Amino acid sequence: MKFIRFSDLCASGQVVGKRVFIRADLNVPQDASGAITEDTRIRASLACIRMALDAGAAVMVTSHLGRPTEGAFKAADSLAPVAARLTELLGCPVPLLANWVGGVAVLPGQVVLLENCRVNEGEKKNSEALARQMAALCDIFVHDAFGTAHRAEATTYGLAEFAKVACAGPLLAAEMDAISKALANPKRPLVAIVAGSKVSTKLTILKALSAKVDQLIVGGGIANTFMLAAGLKIGKSLAEADLVEEARAVMQAMSARGAAVPIPTDVVTAKTFAADAPASVKAAADVADDDLILDIGPQTAATLAAQLKAAGTIVWNGPVGVFEFAAFENGTKVLAQAIAESSAFSIAGGGDTLAAIAKYGIEKDVGYISTGGGAFLEVLEGKTLPAFEILTRRAQEAALTPQAPTPALDVARGVEMMGSEAGLKKILATVLISMTANLPEIEQALAKGDVTTANRLLHAIKGYVPIFSTDALVAEVTELEKISKTESADVVTPLYKQLAPRLAGLLAEVRQFSA
Ligand code: 3PG
Ligand code: MG
Repeated sequence: MKFIRFSDLCASGQVVGKRVFIRADLNVPQDASGAITEDTRIRASLACIRMALDAGAAVMVTSHLGRPTEGAFKAADSLAPVAARLTELLGCPVPLLANWVGGVAVLPGQVVLLENCRVNEGEKKNSEALARQMAALCDIFVHDAFGTAHRAEATTYGLAEFAKVACAGPLLAAEMDAISKALANPKRPLVAIVAGSKVSTKLTILKALSAKVDQLIVGGGIANTFMLAAGLKIGKSLAEADLVEEARAVMQAMSARGAAVPIPTDVVTAKTFAADAPASVKAAADVADDDLILDIGPQTAATLAAQLKAAGTIVWNGPVGVFEFAAFENGTKVLAQAIAESSAFSIAGGGDTLAAIAKYGIEKDVGYISTGGGAFLEVLEGKTLPAFEILTRRAQEAALTPQAPTPALDVARGVEMMGSEAGLKKILATVLISMTANLPEIEQALAKGDVTTANRLLHAIKGYVPIFSTDALVAEVTELEKISKTESADVVTPLYKQLAPRLAGLLAEVRQFSA
């Protein structure tokens, strides 16, 4: 997916003095008194805000908090606690501004937090009028709200549609990069854990993943439905009998391509759903009619742990048992520890999963922890999130918009350097041939990830542009040639895309002058 990255705009100096509007997801949990109980999303949003400030922008940040009634602001809806936490974390004042849609006073080097965007009338329904008004507040719109990337609201969609420039912030880009790394071209074996109470809510995910993964570990009520599909008894455990056929279809589709849904061989059961209910470990075949399955058994946990340790990539969504109760936490704990110990690239997301990660203290051992709940699940379902759809479209439109040509050929300099117009024409004849061949070659090399070749060709161009080009173009070529000595194609390619139209312009000017 190709979108404009805010980091690229910052690196190329296009953000200096600009008004930047960041849509973040600062929707954090609060206790009854409004105090923030968990601030991951605030901390995950700092990189973008700092990036904008460091790049010399005047920065506006907004987010939703909860699901307030539009047009009826209440004290409980306020982002005030978030403003206070941001002030602490950024180490600079972050004033909170209410009623901001009509205008925001902020200077370069300053940041303001704009009050809960979901109290604005028209936000939820993505009102065009509201989106256009907000777009008029900024030069650059940065979408950095991955947790809300599955919503098409005025600040998450319309604003991206109407702002002069719309790009992805570092968090949004990192989330997408991590998920693509896990699912688009994963190191195998690829193991997914999908657990939760109902097959119905995750059926699309199970189906989408069943076509990709090597092992699909199921847990919770989902596993019970799969046990039924495998012909096992599950007593009075939570399951969806009407989805047994769907579960069987997933199992068949997977085994047809040599992949599998491992079915538990042993389980932990109780007679009632309670923290103090006596737990018994038994073979999956021995589940009694009045049993409730509340966790996978130790043998199953050990087998799955071995598979996780041998995996190349792990995607984790959902605990496999009632890990909140000590007697039924073993399965989730053993799998969490196996993920932590595995050398696989792991990505985890979803509220319960994050709670399990925190409980077992494995934050640092998970490759990537997503800040998205619903958004993370929708990506696993294989959906294109509205945020990416619009940012991709804006990037395509930007690429098609013709830029006003800036002259790149400096004839006076060329004549002076070469001693005469004839001398200049002579060297330009050679340049014409070499550039015509080299420009497409650089593009091809970068498309293959071959930065060494791209650097060699840029080095050649850097050798001759100072003879007859403008200072601005010489500076750009020199800079990119330097970057391409050390950076990967991921970094060099977008920068080259910015330079390419200017080199093409120079080539056109040379051709015209030589004719
Ligand atoms: C979340 O908490 O999942 C996101 O902030 C999205 O919130 P929403 O479900 O209210 O749109
Ligand atoms: Mg709330």
